[in-house]
Amino acid sequence: MFVRRIAVVGTGYVGLTTGACLASLGHHVVCADVDAEKIKRLSNGEVDILEPGLADLVAGGLAAGRLSFVLGAAAAVEGSEVMFLCVPTPMGVGGVADLSVVESVLEEVATLLPAGAVVVNKSTVPVGTAQRTAELLERDDIAVVSNPEFLREGSAVHDFLHPDRIVVGCDTQDAAEKVAALYARLGAPTVLTDAASAELVKYAANCFLAMKLSYVNAVAELCDRLGADISDVTEGMGYDKRIGQAFLQPGPGWGGSCLPKDTSAMLQLADAADFEFRLIRATIDTNNRQRQRMVEKVRLAVTGKRGGSLSKVRLGILGLTFKAGTDDLRDSPALAVSALLRQAGAKLTGYDPALRSSDTRADLDGITVVDDPYRAAEGVEALVVLTEWPEFRGLDWGKLAGVVSRPVVVDTRNLLDPDVLRRAGFEWNGLGRP
Ligand code: UDX
Ligand code: UDX
Repeated sequence: MFVRRIAVVGTGYVGLTTGACLASLGHHVVCADVDAEKIKRLSNGEVDILEPGLADLVAGGLAAGRLSFVLGAAAAVEGSEVMFLCVPTPMGVGGVADLSVVESVLEEVATLLPAGAVVVNKSTVPVGTAQRTAELLERDDIAVVSNPEFLREGSAVHDFLHPDRIVVGCDTQDAAEKVAALYARLGAPTVLTDAASAELVKYAANCFLAMKLSYVNAVAELCDRLGADISDVTEGMGYDKRIGQAFLQPGPGWGGSCLPKDTSAMLQLADAADFEFRLIRATIDTNNRQRQRMVEKVRLAVTGKRGGSLSKVRLGILGLTFKAGTDDLRDSPALAVSALLRQAGAKLTGYDPALRSSDTRADLDGITVVDDPYRAAEGVEALVVLTEWPEFRGLDWGKLAGVVSRPVVVDTRNLLDPDVLRRAGFEWNGLGRP
């Protein structure tokens, strides 16, 4: 296997995972970031994101001398054969992906990249970005490759080292094969295609996942109205291999740093191509509606009537991150529902296993964050489960029944066992479950 000298620009979830995993595969990797503090901590092996296995990989790479961290892209690209771009491509005006960071990095390194180097877009970028990247570089001795990442937060290292597939898009066969060879040891199916198709794979895949979730959330609503049980319905659906059991868990809506951004970027892409992508429009609308539906469920559970007032009602929130297993709050459905509950006048005390009460992130404004789930339950009229942390199942519900003012649970993740709750004296309200 060829050991390559690789530069990775951006050390967030995607960049740090990519760098550390490629170093663990034997490559020499220099990671760069603009955040000097972060680079100092990483150089000491301190990883500040919650990703199982990542800190060990970083420590291993540092110890083996195959992984290092530098400030700024320019310092990383010297002598590198491949440069991965893993910098933010946030949602810009009108939902279009904002490429300003990508472009500023390219300007910084355009003249510094060695002849024959390959620039790889790993960030999620709109169709046509590889072409735009080549135009910005103005170097015909540099190839540009699209190599989207499919890792999930909370299992990033596992997903990187056990990929369902590798997608590599480039109009130059050599460059495409050079990038594909970096992953050879993983033994995954590899899709070699043109850059535009590779760029679209990422959006199409993420939008399909979002669509599947909006669909199951809509079916759960139907179950609520028809008295059917969504758990049995999804089990019955999921045995069909064409559907699969994965991503059929109803909830308060989908969120995170990717699905919301990528669905709206796909809409813009389609609009720009004069195509009204109604399915994606409906997927996003269903998701926004789902967040509102959670508030209606709380109103009904607390007041016993549809649309009942939540003014000055004290609620305990269990789960604030966008999903279990991560400390990421970006576009969290739990925070979106919490904001709607506050707008309705409710007073919120929240607990999340990945967060501390000392957390000052603005996303948590208006929620009293505590370090103990039992404190979050003190004197509340209902507990609302918004993130599917498994540890909530193991809580002492008998003890909780003793501290709440009313033993009512709204479980927007169908996470808890209704029988356990009922034996503890709680009224349990799930999604699409009788
Ligand atoms: C990022 C993008 O946000 C996402 O769109 C893309 O699909 C994959 O890469 P993520 O790794 O989650 O996702 O981003 P984030 O955790 O925000 O990290 C980005 C890193 O880039 C940060 O460490 C930031 O400091 C760094 N950065 C930002 C640079 O190195 N240079 C810059 O100019 C700006
Ligand atoms: C997603 C894609 O899964 C990943 O392939 C891509 O690279 C980045 O975007 P991630 O953002 O980590 O990964 O989140 P994911 O695990 O997909 O969950 C997205 C949202 O859907 C979360 O809010 C989660 O709680 C919700 N979800 C997921 C459900 O409500 N039900 C499910 O069955 C699965």
